[in-house]
Amino acid sequence: MYYVNGGFTLSALQVKKRWVLPIFVSSLLCAFLLLSTLNMGLLAYLSTFNGVLFSSPSISRGATPLLFKLAPSPSPAPLPPPPASKIPRIAYLISGSKGDVDQLWRTLYALYHPRNYYVLHLDLESPAAERQKLAALVGNQSLFTMVGNVYVISKANMVTYRGSTMVANTLHACAILLKKSKEWDWFINLSSSDYPLVTQDDLLFTFSKLPKNLNFMEHTSELGWKEKQRAKPVIIDPGFYKKTKSDIFWMMPERELPDAFQLFTGSAWMVLTREFVEFCIWGWDNLPRTLLMYYANFLSAPEGYFQTVICNTQEFNATVVNHDLHYITWDNPPKQHPHILTLGDITNMISSNSPFARKFKKNDPVLSIIDMLLLRRSKDTVTPGGWCSGMPMCSNVGDDGRLNQGPGSERLARLMDKLVGSGAYKMDQCR
Ligand SMILES: *[C@@H]1O[C@H](CO)[C@@H](O)[C@H](O)[C@H]1NC(C)=O
Ligand SMILES: *[C@@H]1O[C@H](CO)[C@@H](O)[C@H](O)[C@H]1NC(C)=O
Ligand SMILES: *[C@@H]1O[C@H](CO)[C@@H](O)[C@H](O)[C@H]1NC(C)=O
Repeated sequence: MYYVNGGFTLSALQVKKRWVLPIFVSSLLCAFLLLSTLNMGLLAYLSTFNGVLFSSPSISRGATPLLFKLAPSPSPAPLPPPPASKIPRIAYLISGSKGDVDQLWRTLYALYHPRNYYVLHLDLESPAAERQKLAALVGNQSLFTMVGNVYVISKANMVTYRGSTMVANTLHACAILLKKSKEWDWFINLSSSDYPLVTQDDLLFTFSKLPKNLNFMEHTSELGWKEKQRAKPVIIDPGFYKKTKSDIFWMMPERELPDAFQLFTGSAWMVLTREFVEFCIWGWDNLPRTLLMYYANFLSAPEGYFQTVICNTQEFNATVVNHDLHYITWDNPPKQHPHILTLGDITNMISSNSPFARKFKKNDPVLSIIDMLLLRRSKDTVTPGGWCSGMPMCSNVGDDGRLNQGPGSERLARLMDKLVGSGAYKMDQCR
């Protein structure tokens, strides 16, 4: 554990003493409720709590990750920071629809870091006034305008749920981000109902230790029920040619399975390298283009387009890690939508070590717990990081290469060790 300065040591706990976490979280929740009624400062409480629970030398520190060496106990020194040139930059798309402005804004605050880039998209189902409100919010946030790394798409796209317009929209954001900056290393696609479980300092720190060519994409060639329900039906997405929203519809006859390439399917949530995004957008190889046209008539195209492109391309098929870096729970068998995450999911969320989770309802209390416990973010401010300076705190950018990595970086390091550290991902590629 290399972050103890008044911090929690959650991840060390959860490795050896899984029962401690639920107790910890529930005591915290009780305290949270109590304190909100008493209107007391939470931080004062937390430091007492830390002292009580975490100064105990008997608490185990967990196994040392392979990629990310932990400082030795009992008085850990922080890991040396990576040189600024090694710290990556992430390009985010955060999309939303009608009624999502406030939720999207909150997700943006939780994700904000001056090194990164953000494209915000409210689809055409949301009225122009909402897009104007979002643009006004960005224009009125002096930190965002000073750094200049938050862009709102003003010419919005029609996006149909389960339709291929979703892929078009993601590619649109990729193209904007490629044009806006030559500097970013990874692209991450999120929606307003996603939320981070680690700070951006934690994410950038952990990603600075990774090979820059890794794409994170959950995938399989075993189509199962999807062969009949996804690969054979031919659908039309009216979002490509209608001004008002209407649902996709089916065409007859159905089509055969392709034999010019192999189909892959998986999660619609992914982390893509800049190199792979360029390959998809620039189209010097024709495969991304022909597959895009093929997927125009494919039900739930976002769950297969990028998987099929990457696994059918020799330059990239060895770079894919079979994970979407999200905590998502489904019914068994899966229904159309994942579970809505609430307070009861917090323990599983944290012990998944995932950097993101979905999906959350607007202003669900669990988001405040994540803010407090995992991001240390207070209301109406961005997630604090090593870059923060100015008064009020984080109103200005000091050194954006300074990362205050916290417990989140250790959780993420554990996940990366499991996925990447051992080279295990090579056994599970494009199968
Ligand atoms: C812009 O910000 C100021 C203070 O930060 C606030 O008083 C004002 O209402 C904001 N305007 C809009 C349009 O959000
Ligand atoms: C990108 O994000 C949106 C959320 O708005 C999601 O619905 C979509 O399926 C995602 N994935 C891809 C590959 O476009
Ligand atoms: C990548 O593609 C090449 C050529 O098609 C193939 O020989 C190789 O086995 C593939 N690798 C993976 C991991 O799928």
